[in-house]
Amino acid sequence: MFKILLILFLFIFLFFPYLFAEELKVVLDRDYPPFTYIDEKGNLVGISVEFWKLWEERTGIKVKLIPVEWTKAYEMMKNKEADVIDTIFKTEERKEYLDFTKPLFKMTSSIYHNSKLHKIFSLDDITPYLVGVKEKDALIDISLSKNPNLTFRFYKNYSDIVKGAEMGEINVFIMDDIPANFYLIKYDLLYKFSKTEPFTFNYLYLATQKGNTSILNILNNGLSKIKAEELESLVKKYTVVEEYHPKWLGRAILYTLLAVFLIIFFLSLFNRTLKRQVSIATTKLKESQEELERAVGRIWKIFALISDLTNIKLREKLFLRRVLDFVMETFPKINSAILFILKGDELKPLEVYGFNEGWEEKVLKVKDPSILEKINLINKRDFPSFFQNLEDSFENIEELIILPIKEKEYVIFLNIHKGNKENFTEIDLNLAEWFENINSRFYEFRNFVKKEETFLNRIILTLLRALEYYDKYTEGHSARVAKYAIEIAEKLNLPGETIRKLYWSALVHDIGKIYVSQRILNKPERLTKEEYEFVKIHPVKSEELLKDIEELREIAHIVRYHHERWDGKGYPDGLSKEEIPLESRILAIADAFDAMTSERPYKRALTLKEAIKEIERCSGSQLDPKLSEIMIGIIKEEIFEKTPS
Ligand SMILES: [Fe+2]
Ligand SMILES: [Fe+2]
Repeated sequence: MFKILLILFLFIFLFFPYLFAEELKVVLDRDYPPFTYIDEKGNLVGISVEFWKLWEERTGIKVKLIPVEWTKAYEMMKNKEADVIDTIFKTEERKEYLDFTKPLFKMTSSIYHNSKLHKIFSLDDITPYLVGVKEKDALIDISLSKNPNLTFRFYKNYSDIVKGAEMGEINVFIMDDIPANFYLIKYDLLYKFSKTEPFTFNYLYLATQKGNTSILNILNNGLSKIKAEELESLVKKYTVVEEYHPKWLGRAILYTLLAVFLIIFFLSLFNRTLKRQVSIATTKLKESQEELERAVGRIWKIFALISDLTNIKLREKLFLRRVLDFVMETFPKINSAILFILKGDELKPLEVYGFNEGWEEKVLKVKDPSILEKINLINKRDFPSFFQNLEDSFENIEELIILPIKEKEYVIFLNIHKGNKENFTEIDLNLAEWFENINSRFYEFRNFVKKEETFLNRIILTLLRALEYYDKYTEGHSARVAKYAIEIAEKLNLPGETIRKLYWSALVHDIGKIYVSQRILNKPERLTKEEYEFVKIHPVKSEELLKDIEELREIAHIVRYHHERWDGKGYPDGLSKEEIPLESRILAIADAFDAMTSERPYKRALTLKEAIKEIERCSGSQLDPKLSEIMIGIIKEEIFEKTPS
């Protein structure tokens, strides 16, 4: 009971003056927006006004707001004309006669300066300027403590400071950020004035006279009923949030943009250069690839030309033509080329390149003495007197290389025509010399092979003479068979190599008769069946004799079948029709024709007409029908030639 009475007593003691008081007198700065200010309609509005409404609601204690000039508010508190002063910073001086509640709002304060003034970052930087400040503002002491050399221009309220700044009275002022932001927006000066980073921060409090604990308790008790979030949302409602961007950020963004632009510019420049380089490199690569293809093409031609050197069967004219083709291709600067055969002092053209009709007129007829100086004569030794008179020779030719071939039996003129800007160079002369060497090798090789061939020819002919001595009926037979065989082969347009083989086959086809008894071979009477069987071994023996000589192996094969028949009744193997090699079939018909037209002790020689009939009879049985026709044609030509006209 005693406890209850004590609490009641304390309560009455503490709140007595206010339990019956009409209201709490709160003095506040009438011009401290957005906390308190008079709006356009003349009403007092702001954060503090709303705060006190909320406070009334929560505590049930009435509040009387007294908006006055800040200096006046200060005096009223000193004179105890009000219970509470609103939104006040705590300073050492103020603590001497005021008691403060817990803090309400955090307030940062900064330097504001005309944007045209650069390099203002701190209080130290504003010494040269007159600094606008509100009378009695706590920021005065704070700023002086950091820079005692500051010079102030005092204004009664924040509104006047900003107006003074707008009119150019001051270029710098220090102010709490929330009201500063409010006025700069109001007077449209936000972009004319820049702000530094806050140089201090403080808290706004409520305060009452020193020692007035009852009011202090009421205030703190009321504040505890209002949440921090509610205070925050009040501030947000009245402030336009302007995010602070330090100066260096703007510059950094500018420099970054510039850097990005430069990087993009240089990258695109680099890209273009790279593209150009790639395009140039691609073109060069294409060119070198084409050049390489041309070079490979030339190398193949050189191989072909060199292989021609060893191809003894290639006719001389064909070889020279190939040389000329190659020269034309190797020297693109050449306009024309002529292959001459040189007989005495006379040049006879064999092949002409690069001229149309009438080239002789153009080349050989018109006098031009200057030409001699331009002749690049390969191998100047011992040329016939023809070349002494060259000045009488050329028209339309500016320069030429004369390329001698085969001990100067042939000459090739390589010409550059008048009007062509090209000239022969040392390299061209070297190339021409190289051609001359190739040609010389061709002829040397050819001569060597010819000599070898002649040697072999002689040996075989010696053998044949031995055979003819042994078998007198074969005298001249082989040579005649060779003649007819070649005629047939030419009618069939067989290649030179086949003709050559056929020639040799014909010469040696009966060589195996050496193995047959001389008695049987030279027997004047018709042979008995047994004797004939002996004779029949000669094709096989011929083959045996020849096949061991490598060069004659193919000939041996042809010779083996020269007594085979179209109908398959021949010997030694009984082959028929196309089973028999073509060359052997040709030999067979030539052989048969010579036998028909030769005289034997047991038979007379047939006339050509009779031979035709005989061949016709044997065609399709003994002889190849197609070859028979050709043979008959040849015989008819012979008859025609022999018939006196
Ligand atoms: Fe024979
Ligand atoms: Fe024969």
